[in-house]
Amino acid sequence: EHYGTPRGAACYSSTDLYNWKNEGVVMEKGTIETFERPKVIYDEINRKYVMWFHYDGNGYTLAELGVAVSDNPRGPFILKDHYRPNGHESRDIGLYVDPETRTAYIGYAADHTNRTVRMVELSADYMRTTSNDVDIQAHCEGPGILKKNGVFYLLTSQCSGWTPNPGTFYTASNIMGPFASHGSPFIGDAGNNSYNSQPCYIFKIPGYKDAYLYMGDRWNGSGRSASQYVFLPITITADSTMEIHWYKEWDLSFFTPERKRPAR
Ligand code: DGJ
Repeated sequence: EHYGTPRGAACYSSTDLYNWKNEGVVMEKGTIETFERPKVIYDEINRKYVMWFHYDGNGYTLAELGVAVSDNPRGPFILKDHYRPNGHESRDIGLYVDPETRTAYIGYAADHTNRTVRMVELSADYMRTTSNDVDIQAHCEGPGILKKNGVFYLLTSQCSGWTPNPGTFYTASNIMGPFASHGSPFIGDAGNNSYNSQPCYIFKIPGYKDAYLYMGDRWNGSGRSASQYVFLPITITADSTMEIHWYKEWDLSFFTPERKRPAR
């Protein structure tokens, strides 16, 4: 929530990805000096919503993960812990649940001020990081993750503060890497800056086949008020290439609805 004095994480809800309702601040940051990149997953077993975020001080030198929990996506989320995972610096994060195993992972911009990206597996209740934590041979910030046909795709930005730069996508057959680099997925990106955005998250749109949504932050200067989101469809081609094309306007008819099971 960056309007006025930042208060923490705001939640917006939608049933169609076009119309959004402001649900208000769901986690107050209180005395946390820097609260960035919150992401929430649902633990179906314990029926908890678990939020992970970048917990830091004003100088970005604490470099920790924060974890908070709520019974409701509309909050309130209560801070449970904050620390460096297995002793590693952690700043931008991508939170990902493997749709087949329901195991959750955090990809995080890590040591030497974001010179590495690490992947850490979470505990079964999504509340703790485990010791399965490796350098995945990828680089930089804003990690977003998807999986298609057994291949994991990782999208990151480079490291240039709040200024947009060309993104890079990586592929691996194991989420713990190593990931191979394939350059920018942004096709015809005249400004060479990911269409003036930075990867924030990749969302699998339910109800549509292979429907992955690129969610990018279009920071406003230093990332304060009036920053915007850029939403674009992600295409994975037959030869396992990630492509993100620019559309001034588009809608969900871009994707193929998943066929409903016939009623018996
Ligand atoms: C870029 C990161 O992606 C943002 O989340 C933020 O940490 C800024 N750097 C800070 O300069």
